[in-house]
Amino acid sequence: MKKVYKAHIIYTKSRDGFEVLENGYIAVEDGRVAGVAADLKTLGCEGAEVTDYGDCLLIPAMNDMHVHAPQYRNQGIAMDLELLPWLQQYTFPEEKKYADPAYAERMYRRFIRDLWRFGTMRACVFATIHTESTRLLMQLFQEAGIGALVGKVAMNRNCPPELSEPVDEMVEGNESLIAEFNRPEALVRPIITPRFVPSCTHDMLQACGDLAAKYGLPVQSHLSENMAEIALVHTLEKESSSYGDAYNRYGLFGQTPTVMAHCVWTAGEELELMKRNHVMVAHCPTSNLNIASGLAPIRTFLNEGVAVGLGSDISGGHDLNIFRMMMHAMQVSKIHYLQHRDNPFLTLSEVFWIATKSAGRFFGRVGSFEPGYEFDALVIDDHDLNHSDYALLHRLERFIYLGDDRQITHRFCRGTEIQEPQII
Ligand code: GUN
Ligand code: FE
Repeated sequence: MKKVYKAHIIYTKSRDGFEVLENGYIAVEDGRVAGVAADLKTLGCEGAEVTDYGDCLLIPAMNDMHVHAPQYRNQGIAMDLELLPWLQQYTFPEEKKYADPAYAERMYRRFIRDLWRFGTMRACVFATIHTESTRLLMQLFQEAGIGALVGKVAMNRNCPPELSEPVDEMVEGNESLIAEFNRPEALVRPIITPRFVPSCTHDMLQACGDLAAKYGLPVQSHLSENMAEIALVHTLEKESSSYGDAYNRYGLFGQTPTVMAHCVWTAGEELELMKRNHVMVAHCPTSNLNIASGLAPIRTFLNEGVAVGLGSDISGGHDLNIFRMMMHAMQVSKIHYLQHRDNPFLTLSEVFWIATKSAGRFFGRVGSFEPGYEFDALVIDDHDLNHSDYALLHRLERFIYLGDDRQITHRFCRGTEIQEPQII
């Protein structure tokens, strides 16, 4: 059954600019965009029933390419340390609590409700080592109808004993989740998730690479985030020629679709390897500022053809709102520009494209309104922000800089309108 929606339609096909249809129509069939046009006749939908969103904006929904669901309680606190002590002092003690599925359910429901609030309809999510809590998180995403790649976290060194899992148990836990959730086209699927090199012995990294290859699963981890972390990796992995190479040698660097968070200090051979292996960067600008990691060279990644998406990285990042992440990505790139004066800073259409179409590729055909793309969309009623004669793109810009969940009136994932998930 075809559905037709009418609104001011804005999306990107490329990073160079927006596609704008004032009072445009979009046809959706089997969850995918069938066409976008200025009138029903051109759309091939004459006489069709139309859902008319009036003066609202209709835009692609957000993708969060890097977020830690079990750090939800730490959101907005504990920003006084850099990465390695921050993990030991604040993050690991919180993640230990997810051995208790009842605690996990209370927190995970709130986490998913907040993703929904800010219009994030797809996410790459780190859970914890705990298989039952991870299963629950996946079930809650399914229940909500929100798309997610969810990772049971693999870790067995440099962490408290409660968060260290033997390799065979990591494999067993993952295989039980894979048996339950790994279906082609499933909205919620497992993703292989070695926490980062300092957390994983060679056996653990090898077992993660083997799982990814055996089941054709994507991979997510952290890469070159913070100076002290990189120095630690060099002492732990003397035989690797770069931090990225330490993943690559275990089949965790583009052998299956791979997204690496941060890449603040990626350059040289590591950058070449990312390019060659089509590894995506999850850029997390607020996290990089909060825990003092640095300014990621996103313009360089774009110039080199390395794919980039945006991540909230709760709780290194404090904000789940990916629109706000677009703003911070632009601001961080301006600081980078002011320091280096080499590359131009990021523009609005570039960060919008990064957050939608560029990131969405990790989930299939997601993030645009071109025909065949899954209809992941948000309706924005910005009348309370739109108090003057703003052009449509200025309305979008003001929503990105000043808006929040109050202006998002409808959310669609794969063609289905998503209602507010229940919390307990
Ligand atoms: N590196 C390893 N674990 C983490 C984490 O939980 N957050 C961030 N920001 N970096 C990490
Ligand atoms: Fe992270």
